[in-house]
Amino acid sequence: MRHSDFRGMEKNAQTLDEEYDGLSARSVDDHYNYPLSPSVHGEFMADGTNRKEHSLHAFVAPKQNKNRKNKKNKGTSIVNKVVEEELPVVQEDPQRTRGRKILRDDFDTQFDMEPDDDIERSKNETVPIRPSGLETIPARVATLKISDRSDRSISPQKQSKSTYDSPSVTPRQGVSPSSVSRRNENTSSSVTSTLKRRPIAADRTNTLRDYNERLEGRDLLNLVVVGHVDAGKSTLMGHLLVKLKVVDDRTMHKNKTEAARLGKESFSYAFVLDESEEERQRGVTMDIAQAQFKTKTKIVNLVDAPGHKDFIPNMINGAAQADVAILVIDSRRGEFETGFEFGGQTREHALLLRALGVSQLICGVNKMDTIEWSQERFEEIVKKLSSFLKSSGYKESDITYVPLSGWTGENLITPNNPSLSWYQKEDNPSNIKINGVICGATLLDLIDRLKPPERPISKPFRLCITDVYRATGIGAGTVSISGRIDCGGVEVNERLLLRPSNDQVTIKTVQIENTNVSSAFAGDNVTLNIQGVDPTHLFIGNVVCDPEYPIPCATIIQARIIIFNISVPILPGTPIVFHFKSMQEQGKITNLIEELDRSTGELKRKNPRLLTKNSSGVIEIVLQRQICCELYSDVKELGRFMLRQSGLTMAAGIITKIIS
Ligand code: GTP
Ligand code: MG
Repeated sequence: MRHSDFRGMEKNAQTLDEEYDGLSARSVDDHYNYPLSPSVHGEFMADGTNRKEHSLHAFVAPKQNKNRKNKKNKGTSIVNKVVEEELPVVQEDPQRTRGRKILRDDFDTQFDMEPDDDIERSKNETVPIRPSGLETIPARVATLKISDRSDRSISPQKQSKSTYDSPSVTPRQGVSPSSVSRRNENTSSSVTSTLKRRPIAADRTNTLRDYNERLEGRDLLNLVVVGHVDAGKSTLMGHLLVKLKVVDDRTMHKNKTEAARLGKESFSYAFVLDESEEERQRGVTMDIAQAQFKTKTKIVNLVDAPGHKDFIPNMINGAAQADVAILVIDSRRGEFETGFEFGGQTREHALLLRALGVSQLICGVNKMDTIEWSQERFEEIVKKLSSFLKSSGYKESDITYVPLSGWTGENLITPNNPSLSWYQKEDNPSNIKINGVICGATLLDLIDRLKPPERPISKPFRLCITDVYRATGIGAGTVSISGRIDCGGVEVNERLLLRPSNDQVTIKTVQIENTNVSSAFAGDNVTLNIQGVDPTHLFIGNVVCDPEYPIPCATIIQARIIIFNISVPILPGTPIVFHFKSMQEQGKITNLIEELDRSTGELKRKNPRLLTKNSSGVIEIVLQRQICCELYSDVKELGRFMLRQSGLTMAAGIITKIIS
């Protein structure tokens, strides 16, 4: 169990406060703001029969041809597609600096770029592009930590050599939309798929056997716990870990003593996950904490996320590692409403999760002990939530609601609690779900019922770095990196490639939950101790990958986006902050290629002048520095992003083309 590094939040508190203060779920909330026109209101708050409720997702479905005859079927197919597909991305990590050295992308020999001066230069020069008009975000370097991870000191920030003034700057300026489109067309055919499937080599079969043994026949599930501040997330999960005996009595006794010393007795279970001094003193989770537990059929990697709006970047970092989520709701009168209404994190978290590709949700209606386990109140909350979640693109069948008390521990692992007479297992022996509720099911039962996603273990290896530490005791020059393996597998002594710096690295050890293992595969949260890398080349957001199939690095991408309820329309030249995995990058929307119908994904018009709120479109984005990414169609986890501006979420998107 550990906290990941706090990524300089304290050091740069002011910047963050500025950016996130009042961050509000406005982008999200506005989305559901009710002074909407009846049509817009209908679009977002529609019941399950309204096709438009899927509008948030429709843009991920392939565009349909405007053939009226197909309209009926098309509606169905889009809905199905939407249901299968996951939404696009989000990210937020306001401070980081990345390796800026741009090396020739020799990955895809078919990626035959047009001999464009700007692009050529960008391959060979340092940080080639600076879209003008961008506000500067303080650069941040990944924190190097001592391997015991107790040291949270921040290493000196890498000063990015600004190439803003380089002659290659703003290559898109002055480029006519038509020439951009022409180039898009020319390059698109060669970049439709950048990732080839790699058969699992015979020499991997032993390690796969080890992997299966490690899982003891269970499925691996990455679970994030989110919700409005003080909803009781840490208490709930801390108590669950105590009940499952993952946390022993001695540790719990220490937590109780410590909580009493700080005058925060009610936080004793939360202290299981809130381990830092500051978190304990303030009674607020600030960074993600991780733990592991087992159910009958699953090994669950738990991530407890902070609920406070100031720590949304950390919440996103946790959610980016998750397959499924628990959304914790405070059922007390007024508290649910505060979290759910404008400015509350319940909505923002739900939408961010969906945008990150999380589709299965357990809604834990918590603190039921404070409202005498009222069925009426529970049903009122379920009704409001389900209408909102459906309109946010969640499938009804993927959401379950459960009454809980994290503090008293009722309904966590033991069914048939006397207080829950209206929620008895005997009344529902076949575990039938009615209106999202499975009477008698405990929180643990529901976690056990979640479906793990398919793990792309046969694809080439990719791990997007979320943390960097300085390792000791393993060998000189060894650095520890951690993250969730997005695809493929890795073994001890394997040689891999760090992108974009192109350092060749050797994997000295692979650790899962502080235990050395011989191999790890897609879905595993790992720490890799690597040798051969210059630590100054290592940054959050870099990708360690298979040297035979290096991940592409891009500064210009084409993407399909869905726009939230923004106040100012998007125009060519709109500056954005591009949130991708655990990093963020400044950029600019340089070209509006198509406007799409957000419900059906149909083409509405080519080269629109602007894209307004709640619309969808295909755009071109130029980033200030390279990011390592994939097409969404190749690796979903590495093909989703979120666009934010001034601390507000503007749009979610998926990468459809890597232009350069
Ligand atoms: P952040 O991570 O800071 O967003 O908060 P959190 O959602 O993790 O809440 P936390 O677990 O820190 O709990 C906040 C307060 O709510 C503490 O005082 C808890 O004792 C209290 N609390 C949590 N769950 C329950 C519950 O089920 N019943 C009651 N009565 N109090 C609870
Ligand atoms: Mg907490």
